[in-house]
Amino acid sequence: MALAPLPLFPLLLACLGTSVMSCLQCDRTIRYMHEDFLGRVKGITVQDQMDLKGIIEHAYATYQDTSRQLRGVIDPTTLYQARTEYQSEFRRHWQEHRTDRIQWDMIKIVEKGRRILRKHLERFVAEGLCPNKCGLLFQSVMNCSTCQYLLFTCLSATPTRHCGVYQLQGEEGGQVVLDCFLSWHSLTVGQADYHYFWKPEARNFSAEDGFEAVVVTEDSKIVLNQLSVGEQGVYRCLLLDKHGTELSRMHFILTVTPLPTSTTWPVPALPPLPTLDFRPTRLHRDTLIIILALLTVLSISASLAIIVCFSCSKMAKWQKKERTRQKQKEEI
Ligand SMILES: *[C@@H]1O[C@H](CO)[C@@H](O)[C@H](O)[C@H]1NC(C)=O
Ligand SMILES: *[C@@H]1O[C@H](CO)[C@@H](O)[C@H](O)[C@H]1NC(C)=O
Repeated sequence: MALAPLPLFPLLLACLGTSVMSCLQCDRTIRYMHEDFLGRVKGITVQDQMDLKGIIEHAYATYQDTSRQLRGVIDPTTLYQARTEYQSEFRRHWQEHRTDRIQWDMIKIVEKGRRILRKHLERFVAEGLCPNKCGLLFQSVMNCSTCQYLLFTCLSATPTRHCGVYQLQGEEGGQVVLDCFLSWHSLTVGQADYHYFWKPEARNFSAEDGFEAVVVTEDSKIVLNQLSVGEQGVYRCLLLDKHGTELSRMHFILTVTPLPTSTTWPVPALPPLPTLDFRPTRLHRDTLIIILALLTVLSISASLAIIVCFSCSKMAKWQKKERTRQKQKEEI
């Protein structure tokens, strides 16, 4: 590791000066940790001190390079994980691995820091950056070169921000829940609302026109109660940000089966739902629980009533017997 020429040093200083919170190479906590170490380390020469400083500054440059090889951005969670892992490794290192050459020890631990950063960045790029498989997401991340936050544009390859079509079935008089929430929606920066539209009686959504606005809501789901056959059709859910930019689009094709006119009880059939987490299943379970609870309460009350009646009649019989006995006594 070359210690003498450090051309990146002025650039780094500029970067450090402006950042509040940043990538590992200019993270305040990490800088304080290094400075604190240099201030506390005993029994070293001025030259040693300068060497250590140079090693740390060079490490900052390598951290920046490492970030740049991996998209050059990081999110706060990943940064936090990398920072805490490096901090604990740093502390452990100086307790366990002291050799005669403090420079060599320092090189080893800052290099370890680079590997830690790389490991976390690789995972972030694979899983955390642009988690949206569809639609458009502006993800808030930090630029590891400037240490400033920016909105990273994550635009999926699917056309027109399309996030799926779901067939829904309801029963006349029943309930159906439309929910177009996708986990990456929670990463959306700033206000965004779900806009629901409806195209009555339509079976497809090939044509853009003919959609009526239903509701604008912060909540991703809407509940259609007391379904009527006339509510069939295509429902469209758009997630729009505060500038009106479309972030995701989902369609639901709703079919409502009319109630059979015969007098037989309709068997409550669960509508086959798409893979999303829809409420009807839960509602159904809740209803079952309520019915079970009611039945339990009813049977307990019935048992109590029987017991009470039984005791009453026993009591009456006993009282009658007692009276007869008393009468007999008086006669004697
Ligand atoms: C980060 O900042 C550098 C320097 O301004 C710039 O060249 C680079 O494109 C930025 N990275 C991203 C992902 O915006
Ligand atoms: C969509 O439905 C309309 C009638 O609602 C029909 O005329 C059209 O052919 C359908 N298109 C497709 C692609 O099925």
